[in-house]
Amino acid sequence: MAFDFDTLTNRLDTDSIRWDTFDHNKVLPLWVADMDFQSPPCVINALNNRIQEGIYGYTHSPNHLKHTIAQYLLEHYEWKVDPDWIVILPSVVSGLYTTVQQLTTTDEETLIPNPVYHHLRLACTSSHRAFKEMQLEEQDGRWVLPSNKLQHLISNKTKLALFCNPQNPGSTVCTNKELQEFGNFCVENNLWICSDEIHAGLILDENKKHIPLASISKEISEKTITLMSLNKTFNFPGIGLAWAVAETPVLRKVIQTGLDQTIAPPSLLAYTATMAAMKEGEPWRQELILYLRANRDLIYKKFDTFQDLSVATMEGSYLAWIDCTKLNHQYPYQLFLEAGLATSPGSQFGQDKFVRLNFGTQKSRLHKALSLIQSSIKL
Ligand SMILES: Cc1ncc(COP(=O)(O)O)c(C=O)c1O
Repeated sequence: MAFDFDTLTNRLDTDSIRWDTFDHNKVLPLWVADMDFQSPPCVINALNNRIQEGIYGYTHSPNHLKHTIAQYLLEHYEWKVDPDWIVILPSVVSGLYTTVQQLTTTDEETLIPNPVYHHLRLACTSSHRAFKEMQLEEQDGRWVLPSNKLQHLISNKTKLALFCNPQNPGSTVCTNKELQEFGNFCVENNLWICSDEIHAGLILDENKKHIPLASISKEISEKTITLMSLNKTFNFPGIGLAWAVAETPVLRKVIQTGLDQTIAPPSLLAYTATMAAMKEGEPWRQELILYLRANRDLIYKKFDTFQDLSVATMEGSYLAWIDCTKLNHQYPYQLFLEAGLATSPGSQFGQDKFVRLNFGTQKSRLHKALSLIQSSIKL
């Protein structure tokens, strides 16, 4: 491998949310979704160069940024996007909140998946928007959204559906057919869609690729705001830049609400990091995927020996959604924490009997985490 993913990185004294929340002498913290790897050398070099200039004045988005993003989307996802459809944002999360606040009123309803990344739910509750949950089902070892079981959730108040693909925490990468079914369901019921695709660059399954929901058809594209970012893939969420793609002008207007007013623009370092990753980060990303696949396989292997724990197929990202139902323990998260491993509690995503393990870490740390899980359960 040309890049080093094995050497332990130091996360102490770096104000890391993940590493500072627990006593690192007692707890291995594999919860919040950032990775323990350095960003690619091309990103580090570009940031170093920018820092060395020593001038950090008000900075606009680079002139070529939207064109470069459009080119990136074409190359990676065969998705043809007009650069004018792109709106630059500081984060995906701010995009989720803006969308919910602008596309629904307090009398209207939103659909969200369950389980799902907690900010999709919080985007609704924080602005007093009612929501209905679309339950994912495990089918053939994958967490899927059965579109034929959604109709009963719809009323004349339902205006918006929030979607997450690749799925966090379920790790599913939707197929073309699944996307068609979900997108068509939304179009037929006249729902706006906000599709969080932040994990798009992290497809682990050898037989899968990321397909943007809005690339399925013009009808779906016209209803959709797609939220994307390279923060996860290249591991610089602390720098932060995201973008929205919206073909429909009214949706572009919606997603710009508050930008440069209550919502600050990305920092100049975010532009630098994102441009460098897009232009030169691909060799690193390819190796990262190989490393994460090997970590995923370690988890599969170990979980084969656990009777009371299971994981579904991990198709994308570096998050294992662990089903602890058979453990018969009231708080599986607490059980692992007491053994010295911090996971994310399933309740955060809407399922109490699950935990989410972040395996975007060095192999030796993952081995330790799996041993801690083993020591905390009866085999
Ligand atoms: C599905 C999903 N969306 C959004 C985010 C956060 O994105 P950002 O840091 O750009 O706000 C995360 C981070 O874990 C995530 O998993």
